[in-house]
Amino acid sequence: MSTLVAGSDLARDVLSLYGLITWISVGIGLLVFVLLGYALLRFRDRPGAALPAQSHGRPWLEIAWTIGPAIVLLVIAVPTLQVIFRTQTVAKPPDALEVVVRGYQWWWEFAYPSLGVTTANELHVPAGRRVVFTLEGPDVIHSFWVPTFGGKRDVVPGRTNVIALVPDRPGDYWGQCAEFCGTSHANMGLRVVVHDAAAFDRWVARERGPALEPSGDAAAGKAIFAGQACVGCHTVRGVSTGTLGPDLTHFGSRTTLGAGMFPNTPERLAAWVKNAPAMKPGVKMPPFALSEDQAKALGAYLTSLK
Ligand code: CUA
Repeated sequence: MSTLVAGSDLARDVLSLYGLITWISVGIGLLVFVLLGYALLRFRDRPGAALPAQSHGRPWLEIAWTIGPAIVLLVIAVPTLQVIFRTQTVAKPPDALEVVVRGYQWWWEFAYPSLGVTTANELHVPAGRRVVFTLEGPDVIHSFWVPTFGGKRDVVPGRTNVIALVPDRPGDYWGQCAEFCGTSHANMGLRVVVHDAAAFDRWVARERGPALEPSGDAAAGKAIFAGQACVGCHTVRGVSTGTLGPDLTHFGSRTTLGAGMFPNTPERLAAWVKNAPAMKPGVKMPPFALSEDQAKALGAYLTSLK
């Protein structure tokens, strides 16, 4: 995660300001240190030296060091205001993609209203197309932050914030909740996949498809899923309609588990469904009294949901 490698128009705007301010500061710093060094050497006390002429006030110097900083601030303010106004625009061109981002303790929901797709913790967006993120907070304040995309924006209960940008290029990036939101704030990561247009369409087509029908061990897992409290919190389209936890319809196609904490493997999942709080402090999913075999079958089922 680096804010110094820009991956969107917004990030480039912010980075250009950062560069400008850095170079101005470096220039001023050099000037100050050179003058300071000169003064220290030129006017140092020497044995036997006479007391220098005593003076008070020098109006032109005082005027200069009032105007100087004012000019520096002006040079910084003009492009800063331009970038602020540009990046606060929430214009939604007709071809823009809307993603509704909801921050929960401690995971992310990503809904694509125009596509009929809902997923969690792994955000998929197309490169080169404007994406308008509508941020909604159902519980406490979170902050949506993908450093490569530039800028953070808070996800606040009772209000809707918007952040809009055009991702530059396909790739795999990471994000992180950037507002302290409770026990597992640090474990509220997200993975971001930027696709080219064709790959994004393929992803959407797969996400819109029904949950896959499991076989073997996974089929036993489905029966356990349907018979346990899982269905009260999670949606697997065609099986359950819970909304308290992440939508799991295509959970097996995600590479991470627990909002970016672990690789999504059947073994980790088996451990997770037995005792999630042991793996992620504070997580709202309680431990379940499952046998090893049941946990394994459940893990096999969930990873089969590609
Ligand atoms: Cu959510 Cu910090």
